Amino acid sequence: MQRQVINIGLLGLGTVGSGVLQLITNNRSEITAKTGVKTQVTKALVRSLDKKRPILNRYKNTGLELTTDPAEILNDPDIDIVVEVMGSVKTAKDYISQALKNGKYVVTANKDLMAQHGYELFTLAKKHQRSIYYEASVGGGIPLIRPLKNCLAANKIQSLMGIINGTTNYILTQMTLYEKDFATALAEAQAKGFAEQEPSSDLEGKDAAYKLAILASLAFNSRIDVNQVYTESINEISVRDIMYAKQLGFVIKLLAIGEETADGLSLRVHPTLVPTNHPLASVQNEFNALFLEGDAVGEVMFYGRGAGSMPTASAVVADIIEVVRSINHEVRNGSIETTYTAKPIIPMKKQTSKFYLRLKAADQSGVFGSVATEFGNEDVSLDLIIQNQRELGVAEIVLVTHDVCEEKFYRALENIKKLTSIRNISNIIRVLERS
Ligand SMILES: NC(=O)c1ccc[n+]([C@@H]2O[C@H](COP(=O)([O-])OP(=O)(O)OC[C@H]3O[C@@H](n4cnc5c(N)ncnc54)[C@H](OP(=O)(O)O)[C@@H]3O)[C@@H](O)[C@H]2O)c1
Repeated sequence: MQRQVINIGLLGLGTVGSGVLQLITNNRSEITAKTGVKTQVTKALVRSLDKKRPILNRYKNTGLELTTDPAEILNDPDIDIVVEVMGSVKTAKDYISQALKNGKYVVTANKDLMAQHGYELFTLAKKHQRSIYYEASVGGGIPLIRPLKNCLAANKIQSLMGIINGTTNYILTQMTLYEKDFATALAEAQAKGFAEQEPSSDLEGKDAAYKLAILASLAFNSRIDVNQVYTESINEISVRDIMYAKQLGFVIKLLAIGEETADGLSLRVHPTLVPTNHPLASVQNEFNALFLEGDAVGEVMFYGRGAGSMPTASAVVADIIEVVRSINHEVRNGSIETTYTAKPIIPMKKQTSKFYLRLKAADQSGVFGSVATEFGNEDVSLDLIIQNQRELGVAEIVLVTHDVCEEKFYRALENIKKLTSIRNISNIIRVLERS
């Protein structure tokens, strides 16, 4: 039976929740035209009723009720869709589970939750013939989940590669364009709201790993344990590395990479030297992008704002619209993600990479030869070399290897460290092959 009104309960009225309220209210006539139903937010869960909320002044007459009691939303028979935009893992999981058990459809923007407990929640949703939509959990306003799930479903996805953390991309861009040091760029990102006050999850690559786990599970039809995603932080990247990379024809980006090979899946998040002519090299500041290759479609790239109140609300409200349509057309197919198997993950030491290595050594003849010999002993061949900075008898050497098994590279490195001429290993960064 065609419904006249669909009611929404928001769990959270912060950055994203306020954007959702604003978008649903401002674009009500468009949304009604697209769905044939009036869609309205009737209740919102918050932690404090005393907090000043400018958004409520703007939307005074919408009939929205605030509550601190989740049961008022989760058990309200008039609420059809529960939209979780509060964050956290355990509490959000409990509330979403309760909503599904009560027959509600769920929309969430919570990547931490979906990466860690997605499978459990999809199974529960299927049991109750409901669905969970999570477009906003990766890439904010950029459509990524639906294209992978639907539009590109006919393809075997060979690889995906993305800049999916705006904080680190902002910092690296500022270091690259203006030679700002890491601490200055981070402080600026925090002042502009692009970085949290406690930014470790972003800087250490954990946030990108959660997002990669979600994307890769859709791309490779596999249940992925986020703990199996290799992560490396950007904390050690210096302006010096960025300048050398530039000299060699690269920019440094934090890349999330997923590949399917005959041996299994390769899943990793690490700083990477990206050739300046690669499409991802020009993704700057807080922008995100995902570049993927499918066997039928070829190369595809998605680009846009990966966070922020309205871009994220754009994805959340699109999910709401899809739910409204499925309610109206009585589609109750449950979640498709439960069909995935778990493919093996290739350990990092067995993967093949190209490496940038910056080291300091005594400025004397034969040093470079002994380094090259140690690499040669492990079948590591060298592609590019710079030796230019000399100070107080110390030379700085920068090398880029050809593709090498990681295990062999690190074995050679252990022997290089033992050479008496080597002062220190300043940095090691993986390199993306030029196409
Ligand atoms: N911000 C973005 O750009 C962005 C982008 C993509 C995805 N996300 C995801 O979206 C979610 C929300 O992020 P946000 O930036 O909107 O967070 P936020 O600004 O901190 O807002 C959180 C909201 O949830 C409420 N809340 C939190 N814990 C609660 C609890 N235990 N009980 C009741 N209410 C609670 C807060 O209430 P009070 O208002 O009373 O404090 C607040 O209204 C997170 O999962 C985040 O990862 C955010």
